[in-house]
Amino acid sequence: MTAIGTFSNTSKVTLRDVLTQLEKEGVALGHFNVSDQVLLKAVVAAASETKLPVFVGASEGEREFFGVHQLAALVKSQREESGLPIFLNADHTHSLAKAVEAVKAGFDSVVADFSALPFAENVSRTKEAVEALKAINPSVIVEGEIGNIGTGSEIHDTVGNEFRTLSTPEEARQFVAATGIDVLAPAVGNMHGMLKSMVQGKEKKRLNIERIGEIKKAAGIFLTLHGGSGTDDADFRNAIAAGINVIHINTELRVAWRRSLEESLKRQPNEVVPYKVLPPVIDSVKQVVSSRLRLFHGEPAGQGAVGSVA
Ligand code: G3H
Ligand code: ZN
Repeated sequence: MTAIGTFSNTSKVTLRDVLTQLEKEGVALGHFNVSDQVLLKAVVAAASETKLPVFVGASEGEREFFGVHQLAALVKSQREESGLPIFLNADHTHSLAKAVEAVKAGFDSVVADFSALPFAENVSRTKEAVEALKAINPSVIVEGEIGNIGTGSEIHDTVGNEFRTLSTPEEARQFVAATGIDVLAPAVGNMHGMLKSMVQGKEKKRLNIERIGEIKKAAGIFLTLHGGSGTDDADFRNAIAAGINVIHINTELRVAWRRSLEESLKRQPNEVVPYKVLPPVIDSVKQVVSSRLRLFHGEPAGQGAVGSVA
């Protein structure tokens, strides 16, 4: 387990330093999406509790709601105040303009997501993004995506067949060579969001570990696993051993947020003071984040993931 103490000067440590160090240790960086300050507080509290590095992410929709510059300023201030290695990712960015906006606002990384386009167009748009973003900040980390893992960190009724198509090692090799990305997000059995049965803990997402290993070998760069919510714990461990460096979790946090908000309001039916209603929500989301962080760093998951509190 990589304690924060591993990094001698957390104010200077970069996302690349952390990814490199964690890969050496055979563990992965937890990435958690935030839409507002309640979720951000929960993620920071979990990093502080576990003493582990953490990656805060916000998709285009989440950034729109939070405010791109406001989120960047808050994360910077949390990082300075806590001394924790907290990094900020512009998740699932579908246009160069939004990617440029995030890098100019100080984000550490961008997911340039043109995976819905045909492969050749995905290559050309991602390459263009890598060149433009690195011209603004040469140390920014750019991630590209291949394959279809769906959109929406929400509760879904059914899973479409398209998620059964896995990215191939050859696609990965070509995509990395042609685009110059730092990190690749492939389709390896993962999907965004959760089925109801997953929220209830009755079913788990399963990953193709062999394919992750083959893609890692072909790509030769850092790999991200998107759509982590509801994934089998052993699959997470095996995926990390096979080459996954970053794991994204969103829906599990949103489920914990909603459940605990409903419970808190129910427990205090006449309460109107936000700072009295919201602390149990922060605590509940923090438990999910801490549990996932521990698992990604080789510790038993403990309580807190969605299935275990259903
Ligand atoms: O980019 C965000 C994630 O991939 C989250 O997926 O909602 O299934 O955890 P998830
Ligand atoms: Zn994702």
